[in-house]
Amino acid sequence: MTQSPHPASTQQRRSRLRSPFVWLLIATVAFIAAGCNAYPQNIFEPKSEFAQTLDDLFKLILWAAAFVFVVVEGALVYAAIKHRARPGDPLPKQVHGNKYLEIAWTVLPAIVLGVILVPSTQAIFETQAPAPADSLKVRVIGHQFWWEFEYLDLGVRTANEIRMPIGRTLSLEETSADVIHSFWIPALGGKRDVVPGRTNFLWWTPRETGTFPGQCAELCGYSHANMRMRGIVQTQAEFDAWVEQQKAPAQVPPPNTDAAKGAELVQQRCASCHAIGGTAAQARVGPDLTHLASRTTIAAGVLDNTPENLKRWISDPSAIKPGALMPKLGLTDDELNQVVAYLSQLQ
Ligand code: CUA
Repeated sequence: MTQSPHPASTQQRRSRLRSPFVWLLIATVAFIAAGCNAYPQNIFEPKSEFAQTLDDLFKLILWAAAFVFVVVEGALVYAAIKHRARPGDPLPKQVHGNKYLEIAWTVLPAIVLGVILVPSTQAIFETQAPAPADSLKVRVIGHQFWWEFEYLDLGVRTANEIRMPIGRTLSLEETSADVIHSFWIPALGGKRDVVPGRTNFLWWTPRETGTFPGQCAELCGYSHANMRMRGIVQTQAEFDAWVEQQKAPAQVPPPNTDAAKGAELVQQRCASCHAIGGTAAQARVGPDLTHLASRTTIAAGVLDNTPENLKRWISDPSAIKPGALMPKLGLTDDELNQVVAYLSQLQ
């Protein structure tokens, strides 16, 4: 016969709390939780009317669910305590069916569901309606593992950072160049799948300026987690200035400089995948580099856009983003420095 385990004594429990393992676990969890602040993707601070609609709905359903939880669990706990078996109790009276209870537990859930149903249906229709005609139209194309943004009426194409003016509706037409991704900037709008061969729509009107982190929200390969983006809401004047800058062709570096040598190398080694406005490079496999230096991050939001990071990225893309389609070019250190010198001046 095996011995049945005894419940832990108070002393045992105390000594478990003193174990370094427990504290290490607590410290690890706290450390990981603190990491959430570094890239705050927060659905609870809505910055557009779309995100506000979702937030209102979420909170309503949360309160409705909390009400159901308290009522049901309260009744359960009350019944379990009041009617618990005591030594010598006879078998209680056996009953079947109770008209009033049956009516109550049919009507009450119906009311709760009604409270949730009406605003949910409203929110579905609101968020599926066509965007206003005067909205700013952007085509979103998901790629493994980066985002392409094409401003349809402005002739601007960029990557991984989607800029928009405050107060004007931004209307997105979303599709994918390869597999299914999902476009999600939590503070601005709900998730929308980005599917090859079809176009999904999403629109919102930002109501606060700022930079709002986003992320691909559909497992799409090795570097799904490294497929980030940023929504940047600006004043109309700032946005207009950005558009003017983006429409210009690429800066031409002064002759006989490192940057000029870099420009030649880029035309030889990068032009089969990337476009650089005003040059022969016009491919669209990878991000448009015409104004690469004007973006705050590189590698789909994974690294800050600094010359050091650019060099790290170009020297071995897969080391930073496993599964990235960009190959290791095998450039020498001098060549790398020249390419970085060129790309860093593409404002
Ligand atoms: Cu793209 Cu996950």
